[in-house]
Order: sequence, then structure tokens, then C-alpha cells
Amino acid sequence: MKLGIAARITAIFGLGALLLSISMGGLSYFTTRHFLLAERESAAQHQAFANATLVRSSLGSGDTKYADLLASLDAGSGSHSVLIHKSKAYASSLSLNDSSIPSRLRAEVLDGSAATQTYRTGARGQAEIVVGVPIPSVKAAYFEVFDLADLDHTLRVLGLTLFGAGVITTLFGIALGRFASIRSLRPLAGVSRAAVAIAGGQLDTRLDSDSADRDLEGLTTSFNAMVDQLQVRIEREARFNSDVSHELRSPLTTLSASLEVLEAEWDRLPPRARRALQLLGDDLRRFQRMVGDLLEMSRFDAGSMDVFLEEVNVSELVQRAAEAGMRGLHEPARAPEVIIDPEVRSLHVGVDKRRFERVMANLMDNAANYGGGVTVISVQACPGEYGVEIAVEDAGPGIDPLERSKVFDRFYRGSASGRRGTGTGSGLGLSLVAEHVRLMHGRTWVESSPSGGARFVIALPVFLDSENPE
Ligand SMILES: Nc1ncnc2c1ncn2[C@@H]1O[C@H](COP(=O)(O)OP(=O)(O)OP(=O)(O)O)[C@@H](O)[C@H]1O
Ligand SMILES: [Mg+2]
Repeated sequence: MKLGIAARITAIFGLGALLLSISMGGLSYFTTRHFLLAERESAAQHQAFANATLVRSSLGSGDTKYADLLASLDAGSGSHSVLIHKSKAYASSLSLNDSSIPSRLRAEVLDGSAATQTYRTGARGQAEIVVGVPIPSVKAAYFEVFDLADLDHTLRVLGLTLFGAGVITTLFGIALGRFASIRSLRPLAGVSRAAVAIAGGQLDTRLDSDSADRDLEGLTTSFNAMVDQLQVRIEREARFNSDVSHELRSPLTTLSASLEVLEAEWDRLPPRARRALQLLGDDLRRFQRMVGDLLEMSRFDAGSMDVFLEEVNVSELVQRAAEAGMRGLHEPARAPEVIIDPEVRSLHVGVDKRRFERVMANLMDNAANYGGGVTVISVQACPGEYGVEIAVEDAGPGIDPLERSKVFDRFYRGSASGRRGTGTGSGLGLSLVAEHVRLMHGRTWVESSPSGGARFVIALPVFLDSENPE
């Protein structure tokens, strides 16, 4: 899985802070340790040499009581002494003896050179410094053992503190990274919002170039330039559609007027001419309808549609539209069953009645053309965003699930139209249905009817007006 930009920036900051705290913490720890240890060693050597001098003068004066001599030595920093004199060892503490001294150091000192060694001893591994001083003049060797427990403790506290500081620094780095990524991605949210608005048809949306981040100036400029281009093209296309449709309308009117003249002479025409006239008439009407649809489409595109939504009782609206739809069919068909759920019977919707009737007529026309006629028109409550759904069902072959979103596209004529030999449509009907319903703040989709045919659904918001009698 690939991480998002924000997660990556956060991870980089966190990792950076972690590496920084490890290196800084490690450096501080080892420098401090080295310094403290060096200091302790030099203090220990100092004390051991001073005590060795005392031992030498005491042994030199002869007749020595070893216990008194060792007890009289300076043990300022809690040290203990071991004295080897004439191959015998004497210790100032019961816990110490000859074997407490590391053998290598012992051999070195007995050989005649002073030596210092830091080592860990015992089960708990306490740290100790041993300083050995040879006293050849009296054939003795003096050793002093210094306990480093306090130094160990100090270093442990320092280590823990540095570890804690490292954890805090890393967390802080992560928080900083999170903050920085959110801040730096914020301008992109504006770009995304603008893109969504443009995709939703608000072509005059632009990014604000004055308040834009300096680093994003290029993006803002090119984004706005792109939308300018897009707007010009879309408007040009819409104007072209509208111009073409307008230009076609007047010759079509002339043609249809001439056709009417010819149709008035129907009885006097020979059969072949009648057949030709009929074909001409059908195609001309289809052409006229298509030009009308195209003109309407261009108005949708130009956003110049006026909608007058009025509050209408949904049952009356649907009943009336169903009747009008029946009257508009080319061939007489069986009237559909209109089923209105009592729950929604008295609800009111905000619609443009003329548009709604056109929508219903379109759906009923399709059902007649591709689905063997409307079987049921139903009105029921619609869970979710919309209040009611009005469905037009047929018992035809239905629409393949893969085709269901495409049938609302412009000029899309599904496989059914060709197969059934009724390919007279232009493929604009359902796209106009969807646009009309969208203008009435509703939504359209198609699903499968209980009998396996098509079920076109129009969901509309309802008026939640308390004055409407329930
Ligand atoms: N009730 C239906 N049952 C099966 N297929 C349908 C049904 N309604 C529409 N279709 C399919 O969807 C396609 C698009 O329908 P649409 O109404 O947009 O165009 P049309 O009917 O071909 O042309 P127009 O409505 O512009 O005259 C149709 O060609 C048809 O294949
Ligand atoms: Mg149609």
C-alpha cells in the first residue's frame, strides 16, 4: 500500500527527529561518561599515590601494625585498600582480599609499574576502579579500590533522561510533520473544491490568485487558464448546438407546413406516393422532435433554464401526468395501474408541472417502445435524502446492469433499441429526463422491476410544510 503525502511527510519528520535524538543523546551520554570517568580516575590516582606515600614512610619506619596503618589511610571517597608486603596481603575491609585485585594489574604492579584499571565485579557487576602503586623501597605494593556505584547511578539517570527526551523529541517531530503536511496540503483542498464545483457545472469557479501561496502560483495560474479554456469551449459548443438547432427550425417548419398540404391531398395520391408521404411524415416529425430536444439540451448547457417550482400534491401530480402520458402515446395502450402508498398520499412536492409531465411522458414512451408498455406507476416513500419516489415499471426485457448508468447519457441508444427494431429514437430522451429532474432537485435512476423489466425511479424532495393536511 502506498502512503499518502501527509503520511509520508509525517513519517519523514518523525524519522528525522528520531535520528536526531539518537545521535544527540548518544553523543551527550558518551561524552559525559568519558569525562566523569576520567575525572574519577584522576582523583583516585591522586588519592592512591598519597596513601602509598604514607604507607611507604610507615613501612620504612619498621614495626608496623598493618591494621592500624590501613585504618589510618585517607578513605575519603569510600575506598578500600589492599597492601601486599613481603608476599602477604592485608586489606582494610573484610570483603576484600588479595584475589579482589585483577591478576593482570597485580602482576604489573608487582613488576614495578603503577597501573589503574576500571572493571566490573561481583554478581551485580558493580563498577570499580583499582589503582595499584608499587613501593619498591619497602618491597610492597599498595592497591586502592574505589567503588563507582554512584557514577553508575548518575549515568543510568542520565541515560533514562536522554531516552525520555528522545521519545518526546520524536513525538514532537511527528506532531510537527502532521501539522506541516496538513498546512502544506491545505491549498490543494481549495483546488479540489474548485475542481468539484467545475465538474458540477459551475464553470465560473476560479482559484483566488491573490491569496494563493507563492509556491502554488504556477498551479493556480495554469488551473485558471485551463478552466478558462474549458469554459470557452463548452460555451462555444453550447452556442453551436443552439445555433444549429435554431437554424434547422425554420426550414423544418416550412417542410412540415408543406407536408400538411400534401397530407390534405392524401385521398388523391396513388398508393406509392402515400407510402412515401407517410415515411416522410414520420421522419420529419422525428427530426422535429430531435431538434426540439437538442434545443432544450443547449438551454440546459447554457444554464438559461427558468424553473418555476410549485407546491403540488404528489398523488394528483402523478395521476394527471400518467393520464397525459397515455394520451401522448402514438398507439393506444392498456392503462397502467397507478399505486399510491397511503403514507405519501398527502405529501407535497416542489415541481414544475410541465417538466414533470414531459418526464413522465418520456418514460412512458420508452416503456411503450422498449418494454411492451407501462405496467405499474407507483408512488412511495423514499428512505434517505429524498422524500418520495415515483416509479414507472414495464414488463419488457429490462436494462442490463452494465447499461443502467449509460442510458442517461446523451445519444445513447441501448442494445434494446436495435434489437427490437424500434430504433427510431435519438437517445436524448433519458438524458433530458435526468436534467429536468435535477432542475427539480431530484434524482433519477433505473433498476429492475419485479417482473424483470425496467423500473425507472424519480426521487423528489418533499415539502415539510405543517400547513399541508396529513
Ligand atoms: N423501458 C425500457 N426498457 C428497455 N430499454 C430501455 C427502456 N427505456 C430506455 N431504454 C433504452 O435506453 C436507450 C435510451 O433511451 P432514451 O429515451 O434516452 O433514447 P431513445 O428512446 O432511444 O430516444 P428518444 O427518447 O430521444 O427518442 C434506449 O435506446 C433503449 O435502448
Ligand atoms: Mg426515449
